[in-house]
Amino acid sequence: MMDTKQLKISTFNDALNQIEDGMVVGIGSGSTIELLVPKLAEKMNHEQIEITGVCTSNKTAYIAKELGVRVVDVNDVSKIDIAIDGADEVDNHLNLIKGGGGALFREKVIDAMAETFIVLIDESKCVDYLGQTFKLPVEVDKFNWLLVSKKIAAYDNLKVKRRMVDDVPFITDNGNYILDVALHSGIDPYEMHEFLIHLVGVLETGYFIDVTDQVIIGTQNGVRILNKSNDVL
Ligand code: A5P
Repeated sequence: MMDTKQLKISTFNDALNQIEDGMVVGIGSGSTIELLVPKLAEKMNHEQIEITGVCTSNKTAYIAKELGVRVVDVNDVSKIDIAIDGADEVDNHLNLIKGGGGALFREKVIDAMAETFIVLIDESKCVDYLGQTFKLPVEVDKFNWLLVSKKIAAYDNLKVKRRMVDDVPFITDNGNYILDVALHSGIDPYEMHEFLIHLVGVLETGYFIDVTDQVIIGTQNGVRILNKSNDVL
């Protein structure tokens, strides 16, 4: 029986094999990617290849730089060849909930910009509907966060909580708060995203809809790869 960490690691080869010399690579955030970055650095040394990284969080950028990966600002690249990231939930259309680490805005900028966006998960992240096991993170400005939170709650009598860490509000890399919204199976992700994104004060939502090209899943029975074209879990 493999544990969650081993299942995540089992997905790495299939992702790293797609990285070639000279590529601009979007490097995501979260525990999976923190385990992947040293393997990426190893591959670069071993195969004597160079890549340019654009990172979705300050933490990942720090780790990548420490390992000798050239990291640049997203504004300094005109394209991203491949982005690799984790996810908190994946449904059977390869739509995701992300933002468990609070990096959802930069993740969305980079993951959506990539020509190929690859998601690495263990099998526990596969769900029947988005929101089944994880709350939807929404990044909001500090100024009117409580008003926004009440508007979201009123959408469908939803429970909304400002994310806290050790009794203080969690602050994103952009200096904002995260609201975690408890969803239910009756909520349509497209409609909910549209509603949220138009509230003044919302920067971005953790819904990643129609952006994923490939999901690599670590399962107890081996690695499963889903592509946009055969997207049935
Ligand atoms: C970070 O904001 C998240 O979107 C992560 O990508 C997601 O939470 C997956 O995290 P793990 O790799 O830690 O499971």
